[in-house]
Order: sequence, then structure tokens, then C-alpha cells
Amino acid sequence: MRIDKLLSEMGIATRKEAASAAKRGGVLINGVPQKDCAKHVDPEKDRIVYLGREVVYQKYRYIMLNKPEGYVSATEDGKDPTVLDLLPEEYGKFNLFPCGRLDKNTLGLMLITDNGELSHRLLSPKRHVKKTYAYRSKFPLTDKEKEVLEDGVILDDGYETKPAEIELDNDRASGYITLTEGKYHQIKRMFEAVHNKITYLERVTFGPLYLDSSLGRGEWRELTEKEILALEDAAK
Ligand code: URA
Repeated sequence: MRIDKLLSEMGIATRKEAASAAKRGGVLINGVPQKDCAKHVDPEKDRIVYLGREVVYQKYRYIMLNKPEGYVSATEDGKDPTVLDLLPEEYGKFNLFPCGRLDKNTLGLMLITDNGELSHRLLSPKRHVKKTYAYRSKFPLTDKEKEVLEDGVILDDGYETKPAEIELDNDRASGYITLTEGKYHQIKRMFEAVHNKITYLERVTFGPLYLDSSLGRGEWRELTEKEILALEDAAK
């Protein structure tokens, strides 16, 4: 990859800035000043230093966000703030987007990335990537209703949901529900189909990712190398 392309993709310098820094000896490749930014480097192997700082190459970004209420899962919205508004301004230079959607009033684990191809695979119905939600409902679930929700329930548009898993708390009006698909308002509509109502919804897992309990609402962190590899694995 060209040096200037690498620096601009990483959001470190524009091509013009890179060319000017290189002319002044500010770009080192494996310790050697490089005057020509059109030169190709191997970002995985070559050591690149820009204005005294080592460039750690990262092709894509992966962010775990603890979504608060009131934010929409979109890149822009004419009315409401989006989950991207919770990230610092310097992330604006990447083409980040939320991987999947949570409703405006749903809380919890949201993956934000610029890796479109991985995101597509994670959301593909073929992959059956599991997502678990902590929930509360207006009424307790009977054994029969739990069974219906787990086996597959017909939604208001005639769609029959895929098998789900429910773990009930002692009060039977809260617990965890795990889905392998993500239709519009799916959990809310599933509970409506059994004459109940979701009053609280928080996503706590997404495939191999667990919501980091140290993140407060609206807080975020980059995924670890281990989490990224686990995601790649889940999307195979
Ligand atoms: N199901 C819903 O109803 N809402 C969400 O945000 C996610 C799953």
C-alpha cells in the first residue's frame, strides 16, 4: 500500500500533509527517511514512523458501545441523536456504522465498525449469530406462553419466528431471551403476540461479545484483539 494512502486511511495525515512531512524527513520506513510517499510499504511488516510517532496499522475499527435510551442506531437522523454521536469527533473520519439495530429505547451492547463485509456476515440470517437480551415484561409468562415464544410465534405480519431461548427469573416477568435473528421490533412483537408487553430491553451479548460491565451508558471502548478474532470466527 502507498505510504500516503496508509496515513490517510488511518486518519493520521492527508496525502498533502504526508508529502510535505516526507520532504522534511518526517516519514521513516524501517528507520530510513522516505522522501516519496508514493512508495509502497507492507503495513503488516514495515515499521512506519510519522513525525516521531509509530504508526500502528489497523485496517478496520471495532467499537463496543453501551447504548443509552434516546439514541437511534443509524449513521444520521434528522430528528434524534445517533449512536455515532457518542463517539469522539476524531472517529468521524472513519466510515463507521452500527452493526444491526436496536430500538431508540433499547439499551446495551452495540457493535460499531467500518468493516462492512464482517458486519454483513454477522447479520446474515444464514449464520444464526445469537443475541441475548435482558428484559422485563408487563405480565409474568406462563409455561405455555414461554413454550410458544421459544418454539416460534406468529407475528402481526404473519412471520413465524425462529426458535428462541428464554431464561425466566423467579418473578416470571423478567429474564433473558436469546434470538438468532433480528426482525423489526422482534422481541416487542413476540411478546405482543402472547398478549404481553416488553417494558425494558437491554442487549447483553452479541455472538461472542459480552457487554463490558465497566462501561456506563453511553460509554464505549475498542474491541480487544481476542474479541475481534472471536467475531471473525462467529461469522465464518
Ligand atoms: N427486539 C426489539 O423489539 N427491539 C430491539 O431493539 C431489539 C430486539
